[in-house]
Amino acid sequence: MTQPMNLQSIQAFIKEQLGLHCGEQPNAQWRVLLTNRIASVGAASAEAYLAHLRTDEHEIHTLASLLTINETYFYREAQHLKLLTERLCPELLTRKPPAQPIRILSVGCSTGEEPYSILMALRERYGELTDTLFDLHAGDVDQAVLERARAGIYSPFSFRALSPALIERYFDTVEGGSLRRIDDVIRQRANFLPLNLLAPEYPAVLQGQDVVFFRNVSIYFDAPTRALVLTRLKTLLNPGGFLIVGTAETLANDIGVLTLRELDGVFFFADAPREQAAPPPLIRSSVGAPARCNPDRPATGIKPSQPLARPAKAPVTESPDTLYQEALALTRAERFDDALEQLAPLCANSTPRIQDLTLQAHLLLERGDTPGASAAAKRALAIDPWYLDALLLLGRLAQGQGDGAGAIGHLRRAIYHRPQAWQAHFQLAECYREGGQSELARREYRVVLHQLEQQHTTESGRAVGPNAHSAEHSSSLPLPYSLRDLRLLCETRLSRLDATAG
Ligand SMILES: C[S@@+](CC[C@H](N)C(=O)[O-])C[C@H]1O[C@@H](n2cnc3c(N)ncnc32)[C@H](O)[C@@H]1O
Repeated sequence: MTQPMNLQSIQAFIKEQLGLHCGEQPNAQWRVLLTNRIASVGAASAEAYLAHLRTDEHEIHTLASLLTINETYFYREAQHLKLLTERLCPELLTRKPPAQPIRILSVGCSTGEEPYSILMALRERYGELTDTLFDLHAGDVDQAVLERARAGIYSPFSFRALSPALIERYFDTVEGGSLRRIDDVIRQRANFLPLNLLAPEYPAVLQGQDVVFFRNVSIYFDAPTRALVLTRLKTLLNPGGFLIVGTAETLANDIGVLTLRELDGVFFFADAPREQAAPPPLIRSSVGAPARCNPDRPATGIKPSQPLARPAKAPVTESPDTLYQEALALTRAERFDDALEQLAPLCANSTPRIQDLTLQAHLLLERGDTPGASAAAKRALAIDPWYLDALLLLGRLAQGQGDGAGAIGHLRRAIYHRPQAWQAHFQLAECYREGGQSELARREYRVVLHQLEQQHTTESGRAVGPNAHSAEHSSSLPLPYSLRDLRLLCETRLSRLDATAG
């Protein structure tokens, strides 16, 4: 029987060159792949292949293509797009000299869904000004995906989180098939280029970025590689620039290279410690609908904004529970208009159910319709004056309108009835913090941390603990953050409050 080849030196070289690793020993998939490559180039041994790899750049590109995971889709983790368009860009626009565009870089851009999503979100917010206000580059080590990104043609799988309205506005169907091509107005704004994050130097054109998207790439790197790459990416940032990682990667990248910040419950990194510009409202960027493209603008190839619509009307024969669950799923996918349409017949009922009304209130708040949200939440409270979700929503609404005392009233009421409702404690902590009542805020953050501790959470933030009562004491509405991020947020808030108290 022949001995299996020792592939460890090849594995070490790949880690050094590309950052990719698969543990101490090559796993079965790497073993098959590397053995095939050794055969393909006609190398007699692992050592001979390594020597070939060291001199043939083409072979390292082939390996990059074969070993990287290119999973991506449009509007993935859309909260980052909202953060960019509604929080970071307005801040950057006030800082930058008028003639200088805001520079955005997507690293590990894969087949282009991320940079094109950024451009679509900017266009939704800034219309045609996007062309002059922003400059976008996108890079990846895998040159094959860059070719596909440049072509801009996508299968239905890429559209799983994109609303029908945006698909309609920014894509054309490729003749006769299920594929769609991105509009040239977006496609031509993205500058794709090869970029290996492990390379000792990055292309000079990338110097001076204001925002770097580095999402779902560092998960494939080990801790020393992450530190190295973050340090290099930091050199690309303008002073005070921002770096955004995938939600699941936040903690792993909080290693002191950049400063962790949070706005509206969304985490990101900043180049230097900055004063918090404004107290982050609990309402998740829901106030004020984004500025839409001017429908009267000269022909750009983009179809004018259209109201979001569900592709097909929900059949009236579906049970209220099914309709509600579908609306909840649409809410989780951030398809708020579709979810509202789904709920409409349930809420128009002469005896609406309390959960339908609270979900409607939540959605209206997301759309920035505060009077509508308030009316729906009050209808819910008329059914049950202690209903947790309705009280939480009224608390958010009051706080968003600067009525701290009103918010505290709703939240205390919620806690009186459900002392273990950690969301109410969290909102209360935020109200106290914003109102300068630091001691009360600290107490509430500690309560949240204690209650979360007891709740035995999974990585994804879903409660699975043995406390059967926990679900009863938490909202049934989608959270804007995972429980893990919430814990981190409370800890960050507490340490800041402790620092100012001390
Ligand atoms: C899972 S995709 C993430 C795509 C996109 N950023 C997103 O969040 O949807 C990871 C991408 O990182 C790229 N990548 C992996 N190692 C890299 C490296 N050393 N330099 C640049 N890109 C790399 C892969 O080729 C792949 O396209």
